[in-house]
Amino acid sequence: MNQFKRHRRLRASKEIRALVQETTIDINKLIYPLFVVEGENIKEEIPSMPGVYHLSLDQLLLELQELRFLGLNKIILFGIPEVKDAFGSGAFQKDGIIQRATRFIKENYPNFLVIADTCICQYTTDGHCGLLQDGVIVNDESLEIHNQVALSQAIAGVDIVAPSSMMDGFVSSIRATLDNHGFEHTPIMSYGIKYSSAFYGPFRDAAENAPSGGSNRDTYQMNPANRLEALRELASDIKEGADFIIIKPALAYLDIIRDIRNNSSLPIIAYQVSGEYSMLKAAAINGWIDEQQVVEETFLSMFRAGADAIITYSAKDYAKWLHNNG
Ligand code: PBG
Ligand code: ZN
Repeated sequence: MNQFKRHRRLRASKEIRALVQETTIDINKLIYPLFVVEGENIKEEIPSMPGVYHLSLDQLLLELQELRFLGLNKIILFGIPEVKDAFGSGAFQKDGIIQRATRFIKENYPNFLVIADTCICQYTTDGHCGLLQDGVIVNDESLEIHNQVALSQAIAGVDIVAPSSMMDGFVSSIRATLDNHGFEHTPIMSYGIKYSSAFYGPFRDAAENAPSGGSNRDTYQMNPANRLEALRELASDIKEGADFIIIKPALAYLDIIRDIRNNSSLPIIAYQVSGEYSMLKAAAINGWIDEQQVVEETFLSMFRAGADAIITYSAKDYAKWLHNNG
């Protein structure tokens, strides 16, 4: 009597399940996003992202202390400036919020890995990632600005720049700028595969960067319907010298993560974006899902799809669960 395969043999106990488990979550592979603001003594919860805050530098210090205690030491910084202008010049000033935050973090916590989001949408009055001229987001003129943003971040001491504007040629242009100024060792984590997604909704509240005038980001971010286009973006990013490739959002794009894994050896970063976080949080707050189990399941799905690391607002919750259970 041997007509069927007994798969359940390998599921019979916790121990044997652990033995055959193919994917694991490693806290060292989680990157935690932080929103930094001007001012003092500010710790303001973002309404659409419970548990995520706008932090002034003094409060950021306490946050980093907690993160270190929890075993998290990789962060990606987003800055919210006090004033915006047409050129997003707050993004590349020596004393811009990100540049100050970076120096402050490196003085106090030199062992934190600091990644800076390299874009101008929080800093432009129109909320776009490139320069808006006569109703058009111009490409090559925008690159000049992004070069300055990346360079100012490198000078401030970031470990990695992460350009996210989706302008064509942003990787090669930033690479050349960094190289010409003695930063040939600063890696570029390219948001090369970034879809024009409604899952960014809560972030746009958080970062105050919703594009104005009814326009959206469809002329520069990717169409969610496309799969092959991701391979073309991958090819140009490899050619231009990206050191990492970010795929964003994550959960609704696991097929893309797998495609990229199968077509490249670049380290892949999955970005579990604001809307993904907020959906899970909202359901958890209502008691409709078990947050820990669901979050861990989403992490597993991203690692299983081929991600090497995850940028996630749930990193701190995960670290706490780990701390409390271990
Ligand atoms: C823009 C940027 C976006 C996010 C980070 N940087 C997307 C956008 O507003 O189009 C989204 C992150 C998130 O939703 O968590 N450069
Ligand atoms: Zn942007």
